[in-house]
Parts: sequence; C-alpha cells; structure tokens
Amino acid sequence: MIDLKDIYKIYVDGDSEIRALDGVSLHIDKGEFVAIVGQSGSGKSTCMNIIGCLDVPTSGTYKLNGIDASTLTEDEQAQIRNQTLGFIFQQYNLIPKLNLLENVELPLIYRGYPQKKRHELAIKSLERVGLVDRIKKFPSQLSGGQQQRVSIARALAGNPSVILADEPTGALDSKTGLEVLKFLKQLNKEGNTIVLITHDNGIAEQAKRIVRIQDGKIIEDRPSQSVQQGGLQ
Ligand SMILES: Nc1ncnc2c1ncn2[C@@H]1O[C@H](COP(=O)(O)OP(=O)(O)OP(=O)(O)O)[C@@H](O)[C@H]1O
Ligand SMILES: [Mg+2]
Repeated sequence: MIDLKDIYKIYVDGDSEIRALDGVSLHIDKGEFVAIVGQSGSGKSTCMNIIGCLDVPTSGTYKLNGIDASTLTEDEQAQIRNQTLGFIFQQYNLIPKLNLLENVELPLIYRGYPQKKRHELAIKSLERVGLVDRIKKFPSQLSGGQQQRVSIARALAGNPSVILADEPTGALDSKTGLEVLKFLKQLNKEGNTIVLITHDNGIAEQAKRIVRIQDGKIIEDRPSQSVQQGGLQ
C-alpha cells in the first residue's frame, strides 16, 4: 500500500546540504498501525509529507496503492490526498468560522459530493467520535481533545485508505492524549491503516509497529512492546 524505496530529501543551504531523509525504504501494508518515532529534526514530518503527497523526494520512488507518486500532476496529487488519505495534525486545523458539521463536510465538498451525501457522511463520522450532539457548535466552544476528535471525524469522513497523524497528541494533556490514542487504536481494529508520527516513545508503543528515524535514516523497525508481549491491542 505505502512503498518508499531509497528516498532522499536533500535541502541545499549555500555550500552545505541537509539530508532530511537519507536513503529511507519503508513498506506499510493495509491494516497496519505504524508509529514513526524520532527526535526533533530527525525527518519525521518530511517523511509524512512525502507519504501524504504534500511533498516530493529529491530521489527515490514512492508508490501509493501501486501508483508512482512522481508521475502525478499537482491536480492528481490533490485528488489522491482528498480521496485516499485522511490527515490529522497537532493543531487540529479546524476552520474557526465553520461549525463542526461544516468542518467535517469541507473535504467532501472538494470531492464533489452532493449536499445530502456530504451531510450523511459527516453526521456518521461525528457519531463515531461521539460528538454528534454538538454539530452546530464552533471549534472555539470545544476542549482541545474534542477539537482533535472533530479533526479525526473530518479525516475519516471520506473513508480514506490511510490515516496520517503528525503529533496528534502534541497539544493535549496526557489524559486527553491517551483518549485520542485509544480512539486511533479502535479505528485500526476496524481495519483502518494508521501512520502516527511522534517524538514520544511511550505514545509510539501504543502502535503495533515502531519505525525509529534518526538523522534521516531508519535505525530501527520492530513490533511494539505490546505486540511483542502478545498483549491484546
Ligand atoms: N524546507 C526546508 N528547508 C531546509 N531544511 C528543512 C526544510 N524542511 C525541513 N528541513 C530540515 O530537515 C530536517 C528534518 O526536518 P523534519 O521537519 O522532517 O523533522 P521532524 O522530525 O518532523 O522534527 P519535529 O519533531 O521538530 O517536528 C531538519 O534538519 C530540518 O531543519
Ligand atoms: Mg515534525
């Protein structure tokens, strides 16, 4: 499903170069729950941006569902982002002037769905995150954890094949962060593929597989402790 082969992302700064990704190969199958973990500046977001078709590598090939991303036009990339991927960000990225229902409907508008279908899918998605009784509220009227749940609902509404989450718990207190993680685990149980980016080892262990990145290189790729111990996720 996600297939990175020998990916380099190199930024040139005067005479020196920064290897944000330095020969990364990574394969992620349908239904996996992978945490990409590493320190600040290790290349996590660069990696996620390439997986999310938000950026292209300097060299190497990236295939998403068998399609070589480098062959896509910008319009086609945007279409893949909208139809195949669901994004969750640290700062939720909700639109303050839109109510919850409108926020969740937004990506479905870009997909060209008619209003009735948008409405149905958005309601269903807000039901899944337990916020269907607040659809007319605005983001500022919610707690951080609730806002992140809305952003999860937005990511899920179009039934994407992959959910990409970059530090989804970074702005939350640890209790609320754990609730969001519990929710991601549940989504994975239901068959969603999840790629979670974090600098926090404890959070990474909640995934099933841990890929550790350092200076743009993968230095470790193993099952998480809970899987190693045979514990139920
Ligand atoms: N547009 C850019 N121009 C130059 N250098 C960049 C650019 N984007 C990222 N980098 C560099 O690439 C490296 C990897 O950055 P990246 O954002 O992927 O790190 P990260 O692991 O996500 O860090 P953090 O945990 O702080 O978000 C860093 O050294 C960063 O300074
Ligand atoms: Mg980052």
